[in-house]
Amino acid sequence: MDHDSLTARHYGHSALEQAIFSALAASGKDLSALSPDDLASVDEFHIGGRQATRDLAAQAGFAPGSRLLDIGCGLGGASRFFAREGGCRVTGIDVTEDYVRVARELSARVGLGGQVSHEVASALALPFAPATFDGATMFHVGMNIADKRQAFSEARRVLKDGGVFAIYDVMGETEGLDFPVPWASSAATSFVAGAATYRRLLSEAGFVVEKERSRAEVALDFFRKIQARAAAGGPPPLGLHILMGATTPQKVANTIAGLTRGLIAPTEMIARAR
Ligand SMILES: C[S@@+](CC[C@H](N)C(=O)[O-])C[C@H]1O[C@@H](n2cnc3c(N)ncnc32)[C@H](O)[C@@H]1O
Repeated sequence: MDHDSLTARHYGHSALEQAIFSALAASGKDLSALSPDDLASVDEFHIGGRQATRDLAAQAGFAPGSRLLDIGCGLGGASRFFAREGGCRVTGIDVTEDYVRVARELSARVGLGGQVSHEVASALALPFAPATFDGATMFHVGMNIADKRQAFSEARRVLKDGGVFAIYDVMGETEGLDFPVPWASSAATSFVAGAATYRRLLSEAGFVVEKERSRAEVALDFFRKIQARAAAGGPPPLGLHILMGATTPQKVANTIAGLTRGLIAPTEMIARAR
């Protein structure tokens, strides 16, 4: 099985839509009048959630009206954020069909179907013409991609000259991590790389890295809050445990261990297409 298929199997969840809508109902939300904010605790599947998206947006500085590509969009929380709060037109792609199906449904439910679209595609073979996009984002996807050279070369190809590629990935090393973690069940499907590797591959793909920032402290705070909520009677109905499944406690504990041992750190990187 190739890497993209293994990734889709890791994240796949055939009853996801129902699980999310049941959790929204259990949280007291009116399903006929949902807002993007109602979804934020489940549709931003990266460390720091919505606030981390907001932070990366501030670093990226995409102009309103920009056409953006959200690479590995998941359920599309970041795509909808850039559409609603940034005034951008956003296309999201992801290899996990279950996520793309739910991303479309959620966008329609919150009235953003006209500004955001989602499709099944791989970061390694983007189905777009050269220079289609003004900017691109990638939130917590690189850990699933062995061939980052190809992914960055594809991102560069579809970006216009001068376009910003805003990355927020868990960087560091796989060796020494305990599994499962949120992005992989075993070391065989975890391709965590260090910031120096990202910088080198981005540069070789035709980008200039303009900014880099570790968010390790934000990460620890984020996970400790998840653990504290779990200890105080379990998580609220809507949360990332819906995506991470029965092994959520181990995934959270192993990620915290990797962070505290300095093996990994979620890191922002802002690269500009030369
Ligand atoms: C941890 S989730 C993050 C989802 C989303 N970016 C977010 O922050 O909510 C990682 C996502 O990357 C997607 N992914 C991994 N490898 C990919 C690839 N080669 N091409 C496209 N999507 C990929 C997975 O299917 C999954 O949806």
